Amino acid sequence: MSKHENSRRLAAPDIRARKGGEKIVVLTAYSAPMAALLDPHCDVLLVGDSVGQVIHGLPNTVGVTLEMMILHGQAVMRGAKRAMVVVDMPFGSYEGGVEAAYLNAARVMKETLCQAVKVESGPAVGETIRYLVERGIPVMGHVGLRPQAVNVDGGFKAKGRTQSERERVLAEARTAEEAGAFAIVVEGVAEKLAEEITATLSVPTIGIGASKFCDGQVLVTDDMLGLFDWTPKFVRRYADLKRVVDEAAAAFAADVRAGSFPGAAETYVLGPKAAASGGGGAPSRVAGDSERS
Ligand code: KIV
Repeated sequence: MSKHENSRRLAAPDIRARKGGEKIVVLTAYSAPMAALLDPHCDVLLVGDSVGQVIHGLPNTVGVTLEMMILHGQAVMRGAKRAMVVVDMPFGSYEGGVEAAYLNAARVMKETLCQAVKVESGPAVGETIRYLVERGIPVMGHVGLRPQAVNVDGGFKAKGRTQSERERVLAEARTAEEAGAFAIVVEGVAEKLAEEITATLSVPTIGIGASKFCDGQVLVTDDMLGLFDWTPKFVRRYADLKRVVDEAAAAFAADVRAGSFPGAAETYVLGPKAAASGGGGAPSRVAGDSERS
Protein backbone atom coordinates (compact mmCIF):
# COMPACT_ATOMS: atom_id res chain seq x y z
CA MET A 1 0.00 0.00 0.00
CA SER A 2 1.32 3.44 -0.91
CA LYS A 3 2.03 5.87 1.90
CA HIS A 4 -0.26 8.29 0.07
CA GLU A 5 -3.37 6.10 0.06
CA ASN A 6 -6.51 7.85 1.29
CA SER A 7 -4.88 11.29 1.30
CA ARG A 8 -6.50 14.31 -0.33
CA ARG A 9 -5.43 15.62 -3.71
CA LEU A 10 -2.40 17.90 -3.69
CA ALA A 11 -2.73 21.50 -4.85
CA ALA A 12 -0.43 24.39 -5.79
CA PRO A 13 0.21 25.57 -2.17
CA ASP A 14 1.32 22.04 -1.17
CA ILE A 15 3.87 21.94 -3.97
CA ARG A 16 4.96 25.55 -3.33
CA ALA A 17 5.56 24.66 0.35
CA ARG A 18 7.98 21.89 -0.58
CA LYS A 19 10.72 24.39 -1.57
CA GLY A 20 14.01 23.06 -0.19
CA GLY A 21 12.21 20.15 1.52
CA GLU A 22 11.19 16.67 0.41
CA LYS A 23 11.92 16.30 -3.31
CA ILE A 24 8.93 16.73 -5.62
CA VAL A 25 8.20 13.76 -7.89
CA VAL A 26 6.64 14.53 -11.27
CA LEU A 27 5.93 12.30 -14.27
CA THR A 28 4.01 12.97 -17.46
CA ALA A 29 0.69 11.22 -18.06
CA TYR A 30 -1.70 11.34 -20.99
CA SER A 31 -4.23 8.58 -20.27
CA ALA A 32 -6.49 7.45 -17.42
CA PRO A 33 -4.97 3.97 -16.88
CA MET A 34 -1.39 5.29 -16.82
CA ALA A 35 -2.42 8.14 -14.50
CA ALA A 36 -3.93 5.57 -12.11
CA LEU A 37 -0.68 3.56 -12.14
CA LEU A 38 1.54 6.61 -11.54
CA ASP A 39 -0.73 8.40 -9.06
CA PRO A 40 0.39 6.58 -5.86
CA HIS A 41 4.03 7.45 -6.58
CA CYS A 42 3.86 11.02 -7.81
CA ASP A 43 3.16 14.45 -6.33
CA VAL A 44 2.31 15.96 -9.71
CA LEU A 45 1.14 14.38 -12.95
CA LEU A 46 1.98 16.63 -15.87
CA VAL A 47 -0.21 16.39 -18.95
CA GLY A 48 2.67 17.67 -21.04
CA ASP A 49 2.35 18.89 -24.59
CA SER A 50 5.01 16.21 -25.21
CA VAL A 51 1.80 14.22 -25.84
CA GLY A 52 2.19 15.50 -29.40
CA GLN A 53 5.37 13.49 -29.93
CA VAL A 54 4.77 10.64 -27.51
CA ILE A 55 1.17 9.75 -28.42
CA HIS A 56 0.37 11.52 -31.68
CA GLY A 57 3.68 11.03 -33.53
CA LEU A 58 4.24 14.74 -34.20
CA PRO A 59 7.83 15.95 -34.80
CA ASN A 60 7.63 18.51 -31.98
CA THR A 61 5.07 20.23 -29.72
CA VAL A 62 4.17 23.10 -32.06
CA GLY A 63 1.24 21.23 -33.64
CA VAL A 64 -0.44 20.37 -30.35
CA THR A 65 -3.89 21.94 -29.93
CA LEU A 66 -5.94 23.08 -26.94
CA GLU A 67 -8.50 20.37 -27.73
CA MET A 68 -5.81 17.68 -27.51
CA MET A 69 -4.64 19.00 -24.14
CA ILE A 70 -8.21 19.12 -22.81
CA LEU A 71 -8.99 15.58 -23.96
CA HIS A 72 -5.83 14.14 -22.37
CA GLY A 73 -6.28 16.32 -19.27
CA GLN A 74 -9.77 14.90 -18.75
CA ALA A 75 -8.45 11.34 -19.09
CA VAL A 76 -5.66 11.93 -16.57
CA MET A 77 -8.05 13.53 -14.10
CA ARG A 78 -10.23 10.41 -14.28
CA GLY A 79 -7.24 8.19 -13.43
CA ALA A 80 -5.47 10.30 -10.78
CA LYS A 81 -6.87 10.57 -7.29
CA ARG A 82 -4.16 12.16 -5.15
CA ALA A 83 -1.52 13.73 -7.39
CA MET A 84 -1.92 17.32 -8.49
CA VAL A 85 -2.68 17.40 -12.23
CA VAL A 86 -1.04 20.16 -14.27
CA VAL A 87 -1.99 20.62 -17.94
CA ASP A 88 0.36 22.27 -20.45
CA MET A 89 -0.93 25.26 -22.38
CA PRO A 90 -0.04 24.45 -26.00
CA PHE A 91 1.84 26.70 -28.41
CA GLY A 92 -0.31 29.61 -29.58
CA SER A 93 -2.84 29.41 -26.74
CA TYR A 94 -1.33 31.95 -24.30
CA GLU A 95 1.24 34.16 -26.05
CA GLY A 96 -1.15 36.43 -27.94
CA GLY A 97 -2.37 38.56 -25.02
CA VAL A 98 -3.54 38.16 -21.46
CA GLU A 99 -7.25 37.94 -22.19
CA ALA A 100 -6.94 35.22 -24.82
CA ALA A 101 -4.58 33.37 -22.48
CA TYR A 102 -7.11 33.66 -19.66
CA LEU A 103 -10.00 32.36 -21.78
CA ASN A 104 -7.95 29.38 -22.96
CA ALA A 105 -6.53 28.58 -19.51
CA ALA A 106 -9.99 28.91 -17.92
CA ARG A 107 -11.31 26.48 -20.53
CA VAL A 108 -8.60 23.99 -19.60
CA MET A 109 -9.39 24.38 -15.88
CA LYS A 110 -13.19 24.11 -16.33
CA GLU A 111 -13.23 21.28 -18.85
CA THR A 112 -10.57 19.09 -17.22
CA LEU A 113 -10.94 20.14 -13.56
CA CYS A 114 -7.12 20.03 -13.31
CA GLN A 115 -5.38 22.00 -10.54
CA ALA A 116 -3.04 24.19 -12.61
CA VAL A 117 -1.67 24.97 -16.06
CA LYS A 118 1.92 25.21 -17.23
CA VAL A 119 3.30 27.81 -19.64
CA GLU A 120 6.72 28.06 -21.21
CA SER A 121 7.95 31.29 -19.70
CA GLY A 122 9.92 33.41 -22.10
CA PRO A 123 10.46 37.09 -21.26
CA ALA A 124 7.03 38.10 -22.60
CA VAL A 125 5.00 35.71 -20.47
CA GLY A 126 5.41 37.33 -17.01
CA GLU A 127 2.40 39.57 -17.47
CA THR A 128 0.30 36.60 -18.56
CA ILE A 129 1.28 34.51 -15.54
CA ARG A 130 0.31 37.38 -13.22
CA TYR A 131 -3.02 37.86 -15.02
CA LEU A 132 -3.91 34.17 -14.72
CA VAL A 133 -2.82 33.81 -11.09
CA GLU A 134 -4.75 36.93 -10.05
CA ARG A 135 -7.86 35.38 -11.62
CA GLY A 136 -7.62 32.05 -9.83
CA ILE A 137 -5.52 29.95 -12.18
CA PRO A 138 -2.36 28.49 -10.60
CA VAL A 139 0.53 28.55 -13.06
CA MET A 140 3.69 26.45 -13.30
CA GLY A 141 6.47 28.15 -15.29
CA HIS A 142 8.97 26.48 -17.63
CA VAL A 143 12.39 27.98 -18.41
CA GLY A 144 15.67 26.93 -20.01
CA LEU A 145 15.14 24.74 -23.04
CA ARG A 146 11.63 25.66 -24.16
CA PRO A 147 10.44 23.03 -26.66
CA GLN A 148 7.77 25.36 -28.10
CA ALA A 149 10.61 27.70 -29.21
CA VAL A 150 12.13 24.95 -31.38
CA ASN A 151 11.72 26.97 -34.58
CA VAL A 152 13.42 30.04 -33.12
CA ASP A 153 16.21 28.04 -31.48
CA GLY A 154 16.74 25.79 -34.51
CA GLY A 155 16.48 22.58 -32.47
CA PHE A 156 16.47 21.35 -28.89
CA LYS A 157 19.63 22.79 -27.37
CA ALA A 158 20.70 22.78 -23.74
CA LYS A 159 21.05 26.25 -22.21
CA GLY A 160 23.64 27.88 -20.00
CA ARG A 161 26.81 27.68 -22.09
CA THR A 162 27.41 31.44 -22.27
CA GLN A 163 27.18 34.12 -19.61
CA SER A 164 24.48 36.02 -21.52
CA GLU A 165 22.42 32.85 -21.89
CA ARG A 166 22.77 32.09 -18.17
CA GLU A 167 21.64 35.62 -17.31
CA ARG A 168 18.69 35.35 -19.68
CA VAL A 169 17.44 32.03 -18.27
CA LEU A 170 17.87 33.27 -14.69
CA ALA A 171 15.96 36.45 -15.54
CA GLU A 172 13.13 34.40 -17.10
CA ALA A 173 12.92 32.25 -13.99
CA ARG A 174 12.79 35.34 -11.76
CA THR A 175 10.10 36.89 -13.96
CA ALA A 176 7.93 33.76 -13.64
CA GLU A 177 8.45 33.67 -9.89
CA GLU A 178 7.66 37.37 -9.40
CA ALA A 179 4.55 36.99 -11.56
CA GLY A 180 3.24 34.33 -9.16
CA ALA A 181 4.21 30.93 -10.59
CA PHE A 182 4.00 28.33 -7.80
CA ALA A 183 6.79 26.18 -9.26
CA ILE A 184 9.05 26.31 -12.29
CA VAL A 185 10.20 23.53 -14.61
CA VAL A 186 13.86 24.00 -15.50
CA GLU A 187 14.69 22.05 -18.66
CA GLY A 188 18.02 21.29 -20.31
CA VAL A 189 20.36 23.60 -18.42
CA ALA A 190 23.91 23.12 -17.19
CA GLU A 191 24.32 21.99 -13.59
CA LYS A 192 25.75 25.30 -12.30
CA LEU A 193 22.88 27.31 -13.75
CA ALA A 194 20.28 24.89 -12.30
CA GLU A 195 21.95 25.23 -8.92
CA GLU A 196 21.91 29.03 -9.17
CA ILE A 197 18.25 29.17 -10.25
CA THR A 198 17.21 26.84 -7.42
CA ALA A 199 19.20 28.84 -4.85
CA THR A 200 17.82 32.16 -6.13
CA LEU A 201 14.12 31.33 -6.36
CA SER A 202 11.69 31.09 -3.45
CA VAL A 203 9.50 28.63 -5.38
CA PRO A 204 10.44 25.01 -6.18
CA THR A 205 12.33 24.13 -9.34
CA ILE A 206 11.41 20.91 -11.13
CA GLY A 207 14.33 19.71 -13.22
CA ILE A 208 14.44 17.76 -16.46
CA GLY A 209 17.99 17.47 -17.76
CA ALA A 210 18.86 20.07 -15.15
CA SER A 211 21.00 18.13 -12.64
CA LYS A 212 20.23 17.07 -9.09
CA PHE A 213 20.23 20.70 -7.93
CA CYS A 214 16.49 21.12 -8.31
CA ASP A 215 13.68 20.80 -5.77
CA GLY A 216 12.05 18.04 -7.81
CA GLN A 217 12.48 16.01 -10.97
CA VAL A 218 10.24 15.29 -13.94
CA LEU A 219 10.64 12.79 -16.75
CA VAL A 220 8.51 11.90 -19.73
CA THR A 221 7.04 8.60 -18.52
CA ASP A 222 7.39 6.84 -21.87
CA ASP A 223 11.13 7.71 -21.90
CA MET A 224 11.78 6.29 -18.44
CA LEU A 225 9.75 3.18 -19.29
CA GLY A 226 11.99 2.56 -22.31
CA LEU A 227 9.28 2.79 -24.96
CA PHE A 228 11.53 4.55 -27.49
CA ASP A 229 14.74 3.50 -29.20
CA TRP A 230 16.46 6.81 -28.51
CA THR A 231 16.97 7.88 -24.92
CA PRO A 232 18.23 11.40 -24.17
CA LYS A 233 21.30 11.62 -21.91
CA PHE A 234 19.32 12.97 -18.97
CA VAL A 235 16.84 10.07 -18.92
CA ARG A 236 17.32 7.03 -16.74
CA ARG A 237 15.47 3.97 -18.06
CA TYR A 238 13.63 2.15 -15.31
CA ALA A 239 12.09 -0.47 -17.61
CA ASP A 240 12.44 -1.88 -21.11
CA LEU A 241 8.79 -1.80 -22.15
CA LYS A 242 9.57 -1.58 -25.85
CA ARG A 243 11.08 -5.07 -25.65
CA VAL A 244 8.18 -6.30 -23.51
CA VAL A 245 5.59 -4.99 -25.99
CA ASP A 246 7.55 -6.31 -28.96
CA GLU A 247 7.81 -9.80 -27.45
CA ALA A 248 4.14 -9.85 -26.43
CA ALA A 249 2.97 -8.74 -29.90
CA ALA A 250 5.24 -11.30 -31.57
CA ALA A 251 3.88 -14.09 -29.32
CA PHE A 252 0.27 -13.03 -30.02
CA ALA A 253 0.92 -12.92 -33.78
CA ALA A 254 2.51 -16.38 -33.69
CA ASP A 255 -0.44 -17.84 -31.73
CA VAL A 256 -3.00 -16.30 -34.13
CA ARG A 257 -1.12 -17.55 -37.17
CA ALA A 258 -0.75 -21.03 -35.67
CA GLY A 259 -4.48 -21.14 -34.80
CA SER A 260 -3.70 -21.61 -31.10
CA PHE A 261 -5.38 -18.36 -30.03
CA PRO A 262 -8.14 -18.26 -28.91
CA GLY A 263 -8.10 -21.59 -27.06
CA ALA A 264 -10.78 -23.18 -24.89
CA ALA A 265 -9.94 -20.88 -21.96
CA GLU A 266 -10.58 -17.78 -24.05
CA THR A 267 -13.82 -19.02 -25.69
CA TYR A 268 -17.42 -18.42 -24.56
CA VAL A 269 -19.52 -21.58 -24.48
CA LEU A 270 -23.13 -20.48 -23.97
CA GLY A 271 -25.53 -23.39 -24.14
CA PRO A 272 -28.36 -24.42 -21.72
CA LYS A 273 -25.91 -26.66 -19.81
CA ALA A 274 -23.33 -23.89 -19.50
CA ALA A 275 -25.96 -21.41 -18.25
CA ALA A 276 -27.25 -23.89 -15.60
CA SER A 277 -23.77 -24.51 -14.25
CA GLY A 278 -22.96 -20.83 -14.13
CA GLY A 279 -20.86 -20.66 -17.25
CA GLY A 280 -19.70 -24.23 -17.84
CA GLY A 281 -16.08 -23.53 -18.64
CA ALA A 282 -16.56 -20.12 -20.18
CA PRO A 283 -14.46 -17.33 -18.69
CA SER A 284 -15.80 -16.12 -15.33
CA ARG A 285 -16.24 -12.60 -16.73
CA VAL A 286 -19.25 -13.89 -18.76
CA ALA A 287 -21.54 -13.61 -15.72
CA GLY A 288 -20.97 -9.95 -15.00
CA ASP A 289 -19.20 -9.04 -18.17
CA SER A 290 -17.57 -5.67 -18.44
CA GLU A 291 -18.19 -3.57 -21.54
CA ARG A 292 -14.92 -4.72 -23.05
CA SER A 293 -15.85 -8.42 -23.01
O1 KIV B 1 5.60 18.53 -22.25
C1 KIV B 1 6.26 17.98 -21.35
O2 KIV B 1 6.25 16.76 -21.16
C2 KIV B 1 7.07 18.84 -20.52
C3 KIV B 1 8.09 18.17 -19.66
C4 KIV B 1 9.18 17.67 -20.47
C5 KIV B 1 8.54 19.06 -18.56
O3 KIV B 1 6.95 20.03 -20.57
